[in-house]
Amino acid sequence: MPLTGFHVLQYRRGISSFSVAMTITPNPSMQISARLRRTRGSEGVRKLVREATLTPADLVLPIFVSEVDEEVVEIGSMPGVYRWPIERVPEIVESAEAVGVGAILLFGIPEEKNPEGHQASAKDGIIQQAIRTIRNNGFKGVVITDVCLCEYTDHGHCGLVDQDGTILNDASLSRLAETAISHAEAGADIVAPSAMMDGQVAAIRTALDATGFINIPILSYSVKYASAYYGPFREAADGSPTFGDRRSHQMDPANGREAEREHEADVTEGADLIMVKPGLAYLDVVRRSREAFPAMPLVAYNVSGEYSMVKAAAANGWLDERAIVLETLFAFRRAGADLVITYHALDAARWLEEG
Ligand code: PBG
Ligand code: ZN
Repeated sequence: MPLTGFHVLQYRRGISSFSVAMTITPNPSMQISARLRRTRGSEGVRKLVREATLTPADLVLPIFVSEVDEEVVEIGSMPGVYRWPIERVPEIVESAEAVGVGAILLFGIPEEKNPEGHQASAKDGIIQQAIRTIRNNGFKGVVITDVCLCEYTDHGHCGLVDQDGTILNDASLSRLAETAISHAEAGADIVAPSAMMDGQVAAIRTALDATGFINIPILSYSVKYASAYYGPFREAADGSPTFGDRRSHQMDPANGREAEREHEADVTEGADLIMVKPGLAYLDVVRRSREAFPAMPLVAYNVSGEYSMVKAAAANGWLDERAIVLETLFAFRRAGADLVITYHALDAARWLEEG
């Protein structure tokens, strides 16, 4: 018998009266096929089926080393983060070592700035001195250095600029390469170019190889967005541009596909590790980077603004800081990041050890 509109109507009525009956008198023999709660009943079982892992060794601690401060100075917009004068850097490095973070990442705040950012590559520049101090103090852990000019140029841009204020790409490459070599000479383990100049990885690789540093890896800030989340960092590192912005070299936040082209270019040029920055607001990009480059070590940078938001909310009692930080760090690992650069590294490492 063909179905008519009348039959369909009757059928629907039947279904709805059936479900009403079910709600009132549940059938005790009814089978629920998936009881996902079975594996959530105790912490022991939850741990057995946990997918992502997070250990202190997965975390990288950024450290600000300052030539302009005589004391350890807390950064106003980043509570719990400090600018360290060179002679006191060993203290924070020892804390990092004690909790077992995977690496430290150094940023410098120089006394002297000029158009070419000369102090970025100076033998006695702030970073170069800091690395030697740390090594003399016996630190054996991994030292990564940020390679950029913006903290060292008086105009605050990541490269050289011409009279019109245009950021020059190719002319900036040799300055970045010199900076990377000076870091390697001082004892850096890994150099991390963040200037977003095209060809910077190739330029640095060629220069390192030519000076005997064939075994120094490059961690490229391959995917770095033009982000307002860097605001607190610029206060911390005193690296805001005095005119213009970074949109001519950093990526447009609306772009996801382009991230794959950026990684591709840097991997081809010889990057050993790749990065997505910021991380938290770009977890989709972390995921697609993991899928597009399954074999590359992938780093996510949990940037300053992402840190400050959590600290501000926690200070107000609006969020449970410990729970939020660990949940966030697990999110990076779940999305596919191998390493997370985070200002929460010391706290998180301690919390993880406490269990
Ligand atoms: C320098 C640099 C920046 C950050 C890391 N390296 C700032 C910028 O590009 O303006 C941001 C880090 C953070 O916000 O935590 N090129
Ligand atoms: Zn820069």
